[in-house]
Amino acid sequence: MKRPTPTPGRRLVTALDVGSSKVSALIAEPGEAGELRILGTGQRQSQGVRRGFIADMERTEVAIREAVEQAERIAATNIEDVFVGFSAGGLVSSVASVELQIGGRRVEPQDIDQLLGVGRQSIDAEGRMILHALPALYTLDGLQGVKKPLGLHADRLAVDIHVIAAEPSPVRNLDLCVRSAHLGVQAIVASPVAAGKACLSEEERELGVALVELGAGVTNVSVFAGGMLVGLKSLGVGGMDITDDIAAAFGTRRVEAERMKCFYGSATTSPRDNHDMIELKPIAGSEEGTEASRITRAQLNSVIRARLEHLTNEIAAALKELGFGGPFGRQVVLTGGGSELKGIADYAQGVLGRAVRIGRPNLRGLPEAHSGPAFTTLVGLAQFAASDELDLRAAVSPEMNVQKQNSGGIVQRLITAFRSGF
Ligand SMILES: Nc1ncnc2c1ncn2[C@@H]1O[C@H](COP(=O)(O)OP(=O)(O)OP(=O)(O)O)[C@@H](O)[C@H]1O
Ligand SMILES: [Mg+2]
Repeated sequence: MKRPTPTPGRRLVTALDVGSSKVSALIAEPGEAGELRILGTGQRQSQGVRRGFIADMERTEVAIREAVEQAERIAATNIEDVFVGFSAGGLVSSVASVELQIGGRRVEPQDIDQLLGVGRQSIDAEGRMILHALPALYTLDGLQGVKKPLGLHADRLAVDIHVIAAEPSPVRNLDLCVRSAHLGVQAIVASPVAAGKACLSEEERELGVALVELGAGVTNVSVFAGGMLVGLKSLGVGGMDITDDIAAAFGTRRVEAERMKCFYGSATTSPRDNHDMIELKPIAGSEEGTEASRITRAQLNSVIRARLEHLTNEIAAALKELGFGGPFGRQVVLTGGGSELKGIADYAQGVLGRAVRIGRPNLRGLPEAHSGPAFTTLVGLAQFAASDELDLRAAVSPEMNVQKQNSGGIVQRLITAFRSGF
């Protein structure tokens, strides 16, 4: 098959996901209808990121550079700017609702300006950095869910502005790291926003769905309803913790524990597990002539399940905290590399008492190696970059918006972005 090459003169988008276990990059060309043509992907092991936070600038910078260079080579192009995902803890989401009296006439562009201007005052980032401020649905005289209010008659016009903010320091570190790798940062996007784009259907987001991204060091629980992300919570636990438990329980190296988990591990059990034997290598450097020992698959799975039980309970608590329940709380989607664990959907369905499916990036043309749930966020970042969603991408520069008094610029851009959508 001929490898796709960039169309001359066309805008390209590059996504960069800096995770705790891997750094991945994707270069794509958005088509007329916003659909993406993948031109190149790249990946490097991540060694300087812990639980989503950058702990070693230099190592992370190298991994970023190499992952992007690999994607560039495959795409036969050079890129300058990237959309970066931010998935560490400290993300908070809130909805600012504002209302304006129109007095029965038709809604004019100035009304929207004024409304969003009022919205600005009600966005209280509490010293956090605003990553997204997205005007969601309008309400006209109590009628909710109006997408385009311009030109309609109303007494009262209201809008919900959905705001996602993060602790400034980790975002600044991420920004700095990417810039040190000689890349421009077009936007820093909250990972759940990206992941939700890539693996949830529009209908799911409308009707209500929970997305749980199980990464290596972070598990992000987010809830979507009415078409937008309405709540999120980051848990500082992930697939790496399962691996570490296995390594500790059987006195083996992490790479070996990782291999055992991925090849033999399962979240569900079967009576046969007591008879399935797994060879395991002892830690190198231990006594000469130490024989490889053997454990049963049941032993392995009981270590995995102990951690998983913990994690699932935390997820259940987070969902409750986020108000995910009742008629709109039926579907849970698991994604992220951790969701590759055998049997995890069945297991989670049993514990959470809700329908659970695994979410993969819904994009054709992905290379086999990058089409699994570990790449949902990466693909979502590219889809976000290509979309015309009215978001404050331009307002992301960490030098701005950090202090509350600087947030004026955001709304100006919000208004511009929003107006241009009509
Ligand atoms: N087949 C598998 N079975 C079990 N776990 C798996 C499997 N494949 C990958 N994983 C786990 O998925 C995790 C990596 O997931 P992912 O690539 O989404 O993380 P990341 O983006 O690097 O990290 P984070 O988002 O937490 O910062 C690792 O802990 C890995 O062990
Ligand atoms: Mg990740």
